[in-house]
Amino acid sequence: MINTLGQLDQLSSKYLYIHTFGCQMNDRESEQMIALMSAAGYERTSRLQKADLIILNTCSIRQKADQKVYSELGRFRELKEANPELVIAVGGCLAQQRGHEIFKKAPQVDVVFGTRNIHRLPELVAEAAKTGAKLVATSLPERIESLSIATVPPPGRVGAYVTIMQGCNNFCSYCVVPNLRGREISRPAGEIVSEIRALAANGIREVTLLGQNVNSYEAKDEAAGDFAGLLQEIDGVEGVERIRFTTSHPKDLSERLIDSFGRLTKLCEHIHLPVQSGSDFVLRGMNRNYTAEIYATKVAALRRACPGISVTSDMIVGFPGESDEDFQKTIDLMEKIRFDNLFSFAYSEREGTKAATFKDRVPEVVKRERLRTLQSLQEAHTLEKNKRFEGKVEEVLVEAASKKSSADLMGRTRTNRIVNFTGDGRLTGKTVSVRIKEAFLHSLRGEIDGVTAC
Ligand code: SAH
Ligand code: SF4
Ligand code: F3S
Repeated sequence: MINTLGQLDQLSSKYLYIHTFGCQMNDRESEQMIALMSAAGYERTSRLQKADLIILNTCSIRQKADQKVYSELGRFRELKEANPELVIAVGGCLAQQRGHEIFKKAPQVDVVFGTRNIHRLPELVAEAAKTGAKLVATSLPERIESLSIATVPPPGRVGAYVTIMQGCNNFCSYCVVPNLRGREISRPAGEIVSEIRALAANGIREVTLLGQNVNSYEAKDEAAGDFAGLLQEIDGVEGVERIRFTTSHPKDLSERLIDSFGRLTKLCEHIHLPVQSGSDFVLRGMNRNYTAEIYATKVAALRRACPGISVTSDMIVGFPGESDEDFQKTIDLMEKIRFDNLFSFAYSEREGTKAATFKDRVPEVVKRERLRTLQSLQEAHTLEKNKRFEGKVEEVLVEAASKKSSADLMGRTRTNRIVNFTGDGRLTGKTVSVRIKEAFLHSLRGEIDGVTAC
């Protein structure tokens, strides 16, 4: 009897394969897609051949991101021919940008759903499966229904993403995001805090607050008021040990927020503060609304409020009109600030952005050369910063067994450095004092010095 039921169960369950591209916002939304489809009877599989439903959650930030999605879609053509019942759905930023066009380039696709239509996924998949119709949902309504879709973290998970706002009003001239995610919308503070309480009750110890521009978070008619107020409320949630956030725009980095780093015990000593360039001419062209000097002043204030804070950033090289002198100013700013880490990109022209109309394009070879110069300088800075931790004892929140060795654990310092050390898997989710023995470019190696909390 049990066997029969078990077999029936197996026969009736459907499988979902999902591939996520892009940023943490997309990672979080994939979790929501999985939760929605699981309620509709789909179980997740990592085997493509087994899938009844394939979801690609896509990114379009640079041309390369775009190409990766189409090449992945190419792999599904044969699967669809072999199994016409298979439903292929494309969501995320590329879906929002291209809409119907995706069917032309990839006729094997059944459903295209944009960044503000995630909540409609189960309905769209069911209809496509039933009728075989090609469906598109790319409206940008003012309310984002999916913002409040909660998910239960899988057992053993230590950290979770929590979306606090979505969309962007900044219109940096190179960036497609405002077109694809619409204008800024903040989630009510009460809803965010409830979600975090539930996560803490489920064993989550670290929350990362997400938004394209978290600094302009606005809690309308609520006591939290602004982003600093929201952080303060979250700091009071029992069970949460660490708070992080991404991404902040330098122009909106308020004094109140800077002070929060010195005041709130759970707020980790790390800020990701994208600067994009060290040249004021380029920053103006990018529509960033600050100068290199203003940026450096804000970093100095952060370092005063919170000595030892880790500052990471994003940089673009080869923006239209960027001369050798402009590039040198970026290098000078790097020397001055000495970032703990840096994500650097060659400028990529995006359709529908203001910068796509700019003349004076920088040749690809020059971009590549500048990127190489910048990256080797950053490697030296990252290593130098990491080396300063040798011999020190760091508070490490254990996340999981290390990928490289089963006897090893992996965790992070409050400044967001990865630490590997030998230890018992039962320490996962606990905070451990680790003495750092050796520093590398991408991680630190240490030994347990003591277990400090719960
Ligand atoms: N909202 C965030 C993240 C934007 S996307 C922010 O404002 O920081 C992440 C990074 O991608 C950006 O910081 C930028 O460095 C890079 N990026 C965005 N558009 C780009 C483009 N057209 N070409 C190259 N890099 C780009
Ligand atoms: Fe894009 Fe600028 Fe908005 Fe970031 S702040 S998402 S780079 S427009
Ligand atoms: Fe990419 Fe959209 Fe994120 S374009 S970086 S997935 S907001």
